[in-house]
Amino acid sequence: MVVLNSPHNPTGSVLSPKDLDEIATLLRDREIFVLSDEIYSKILYEGVHESIATRPGMVEKTILLDGFSKTYAMTGWRLGYGVMNPTLAKHVARLATNVYSCATSFVQRAGIAALGGSQEPILAMVREFHRRRDEIVAGLCAIPGLTCQKPAGAFYVFPSIKALNLKSADAERMFLEEAGVAVLSGTAFGPRGEGYIRLSYANSIENIRKALRRIGALVGSQVRAAR
Ligand SMILES: Cc1ncc(COP(=O)(O)O)c(C=O)c1O
Repeated sequence: MVVLNSPHNPTGSVLSPKDLDEIATLLRDREIFVLSDEIYSKILYEGVHESIATRPGMVEKTILLDGFSKTYAMTGWRLGYGVMNPTLAKHVARLATNVYSCATSFVQRAGIAALGGSQEPILAMVREFHRRRDEIVAGLCAIPGLTCQKPAGAFYVFPSIKALNLKSADAERMFLEEAGVAVLSGTAFGPRGEGYIRLSYANSIENIRKALRRIGALVGSQVRAAR
């Protein structure tokens, strides 16, 4: 199985249409499933979301995962879904029924209300995330010792802290204990995350600015101490 996640947690990166074409070409004639986690499909700042399932020959072998946590800010409601071929769906349904006995009935009603109601709040939410993304990326890039790519989707940034000469797990602890800012070590996502931290900007602009000021002060003292 190949696992895809676009827009991506933790980097916020998005697979291009060409990436999807090339991945589909590689997988089309092979007995390999694709688990495509598209939970951030609506939180996109440029272009249009595309699923690998739209590529020729891919729909049968794609397991598309989505849910209500991000698009409808219903994280605590624990409602999600998968779209897959009917043969596989039968097995997954058996597993779901026996493992967690289905989604709560009133939460299913909430899901219907979310899907059937106005979708305008999603656009407003994404506009606000866009503003926060621009603010946090500019703020992090202005701090000497940090570099940060501009993500195209989701609500995370994944700056490099390599210039700080710190293990990511130590940076995570230091940011929390000395600056009061909760970040995640890049290594929480695997060994290739070393040298990076993840920040979520699912927070107010005021708190993001406060966090940037505190990170700036902490990193400044760290850089001076390393000299
Ligand atoms: C890529 C990705 N997939 C799935 C999820 C799961 O969301 P939930 O369990 O709230 O539906 C998350 C949550 O952070 C995520 O980042």
